[in-house]
Amino acid sequence: MRTIIYTGKGGVGKTSLSSSTALAAAKRGHRTLVMSTDSAHSLGDSLGTSLGPDPIPVAPNLDALEVDVLTEMERHWKEVYGYFTALLQSQGVEEITAKEFVVLPGMDMIAALLLLDEYKRQERYDTVIMDTAPTADTLRLLSFPDVLRWYFEHFFKIQKRMVKVARPTVGKVMKTPLPTDRFFDAIQQLYDRSLSVRELLSDPRHSTVRLVVNPQKMVISETQRAYTYLCLFGIPIEMLVVNKVYPASSKDGYFAEVLKEQEQNLATIREAFGDLPILTSPRYPYEVIGSERLTKLSTDVFGEKDPSALFASTNPVRFTSTKSGKAVSIELPFAESEKLDVSLRGDTLYIRVGWHKRTILLPYSYAGLKLGEARYVGGRLTVNFR
Ligand SMILES: Nc1ncnc2c1ncn2[C@@H]1O[C@H](COP(=O)(O)OP(=O)(O)O)[C@@H](O)[C@H]1O
Ligand SMILES: [Mg+2]
Repeated sequence: MRTIIYTGKGGVGKTSLSSSTALAAAKRGHRTLVMSTDSAHSLGDSLGTSLGPDPIPVAPNLDALEVDVLTEMERHWKEVYGYFTALLQSQGVEEITAKEFVVLPGMDMIAALLLLDEYKRQERYDTVIMDTAPTADTLRLLSFPDVLRWYFEHFFKIQKRMVKVARPTVGKVMKTPLPTDRFFDAIQQLYDRSLSVRELLSDPRHSTVRLVVNPQKMVISETQRAYTYLCLFGIPIEMLVVNKVYPASSKDGYFAEVLKEQEQNLATIREAFGDLPILTSPRYPYEVIGSERLTKLSTDVFGEKDPSALFASTNPVRFTSTKSGKAVSIELPFAESEKLDVSLRGDTLYIRVGWHKRTILLPYSYAGLKLGEARYVGGRLTVNFR
C-alpha cells in the first residue's frame, strides 16, 4: 500500500489535488482510497457527493471517507476517551463539554494515521491519498509517534506504577477517578501502533509527502518551514506542486501586476525547492469541482504519468562514520544556524529548531560516544560523535 500525503497552507489546492490524484489513480486500476483528515472537510464537496467516517465507493476502484474523531474515539479508544471524560467530569466539567474537550485539535490526523495502519494490515488498498489540514497542524502530528514515545517512556510508565500503589489506598477516598488497567493497556496499544505508523511514515516505499504551494510570498515561506520540519522528522518528501499559476496570456490589463509578482515568486520557489521535482498547474477561470475538472487538473500536473507513481524521495537523516568517530547529518534546508540547539542524553540526540523538537534514537553502535562538534553547512546539520 502506498500513501501520498498532500499538505500545504489553507486554500492552496490540497483537497482538489487529492481528489484529482485519487480519481486518476483509480482510473489506472489501482484500488484507491482518498481520505480527508481536515475536520473542516471539503473532500465531499470536491467529489460532488456526501461522505462519512467509513469508506464508501465514489467511482470504480475509488473509495472515499472523511475522518470523524468522535467516531474513531468511540470505536477504538473507548478506554482512553472514557477515562479522560470521567476525569474532567470529576472536576466539575459538564458531560457534553467534557466530551468536546477530550477531542483536542489535530486528533483527526492521529485517528487518520491509525486508520492508515489498519488499512495497511488489511491489504485493502494499493493507494491511499490523504487530504490533510493546513500545514502546521499536520506537521506537528506527523511527529506524534516520536512525541508519544517520550510520553510513554517518561509519563505513562511511572503513572502506571503510581496508580497500582494508590488504588487500594488513597484511591478509595479520592474524588478523582484513577485510570484502570484497561486504560493503560489501551495506551500501550496506542503506543505500539504509533511505532508502526512511524515506520510507515519514514519509508518512502510506503509513504511520501507532496507539498502544495501557490506562487505567493506568504504561501512560500510557510512551505519552506514545512520542508525543514519534515526533514527534521525524517519524513520523505516527494515533490512540490505549484498550483494556481496564472498563464502568460493573462499578462495584459488587470493581471499584469499579478504576473510580474508571480515571476519573482516562481524564481524564489526554484531557489528554495531546487532539489525536489517541481510540477505546476494553471489557475483556472473556474472552481475545480467534479470529475471532469479534477481529471483535467491531474493531466495538467502529471501529464501522461501515473499520478500515484513515486516521483522521487529524499531521505534526509544520515548516519555516517568519520575518522574520529561517527556522525549524524540531517538536511535542514531553511534552518537558521543560530536557532539550532543540539544535545545528547543517553542514546538519544535532541535537536531543537525554533519551537520544534526532534529526538533521534541513535543506533547501538553510537553507544558510549561523546557529542562532538555540530556544524551547519550548506543546508545540512552535521553532528559529530567522538
Ligand atoms: N488550479 C486552480 N485554479 C482555480 N481554482 C482552484 C485551483 N485549485 C484549487 N482551486 C480552488 O481553490 C479553492 C481551494 O482549493 P482546495 O483544494 O479546497 O484547497 P485546500 O484543500 O488546500 O484548502 C477551491 O474553491 C478550489 O476549487
Ligand atoms: Mg482542504
